[in-house]
Amino acid sequence: MRLLFVANWKMNPGSVREAVVLWNATKKYARKMRKTSVVVCPPTPFIAPCATKSEGLVFLGAQDVSIFPNGAHTGEVSGNMLKDMHVRYVIVGHSERRALGETNEIVSRKAQATLVAGLTPIVCVGERERGEHGEHLELIETQVKESLRGVSKAKVLKVIIAYEPLWAIGKTSAHAMSPADIHETTLFIRKILSKMYGRTVGMSVPILYGGSVENSNIFAIVHDGAVQGVLVGHASLVAKNVSDMLTALEKAQ
Ligand code: PGA
Repeated sequence: MRLLFVANWKMNPGSVREAVVLWNATKKYARKMRKTSVVVCPPTPFIAPCATKSEGLVFLGAQDVSIFPNGAHTGEVSGNMLKDMHVRYVIVGHSERRALGETNEIVSRKAQATLVAGLTPIVCVGERERGEHGEHLELIETQVKESLRGVSKAKVLKVIIAYEPLWAIGKTSAHAMSPADIHETTLFIRKILSKMYGRTVGMSVPILYGGSVENSNIFAIVHDGAVQGVLVGHASLVAKNVSDMLTALEKAQ
């Protein structure tokens, strides 16, 4: 399986012009990759100016989606609208959205809405802090189970999980989780998925890591952390970093 590099631009950059420049630069680097797929998730208003049919292994993603398919839902954007803009992936349940009140139930409805639209949900889970006695594992288990509630065994094969410990997000590579801990936690997530869907499916769902992935740690994270890719925030906003990180991902496979 190809590794996946997901760029989460969050509420950046500040103008449509900068967004298109960054998108074009990212596409240029991504096109040189042979083994790595790239998904770029711009803020919603910048999706349209970036929207082109998918080229090679470069895809557009969205940072959120409505639970509703259409109708009187002011401010919401449906999965079908995103699909019409050539979006292929949707980040759902990012911790920054959960902090605004998004519950596991809403996340599961968004994951289902994404699947119904024929798009791939990237479902985010992760603990706020690590408990000395493994309390965080209980929280991760609840998040995984409840965020995937209603997602059938056939459909879960179209889902990607992003494990993002909150305490590691938005810092520097020195604060990211160690590859060994990433490996251990993703194995734990696989165990939960296997309990829910059976071992074959549990072992097949791709798991990404996110939280202060930068040029200096990306290789070790995918190589030693044994994840199927990364969800990258701040470092994905600088074109040169994107080039370096993609090169590292190619080497890690
Ligand atoms: P970061 O963000 O790479 O800036 O830590 C990752 C994320 O929140 O998805």
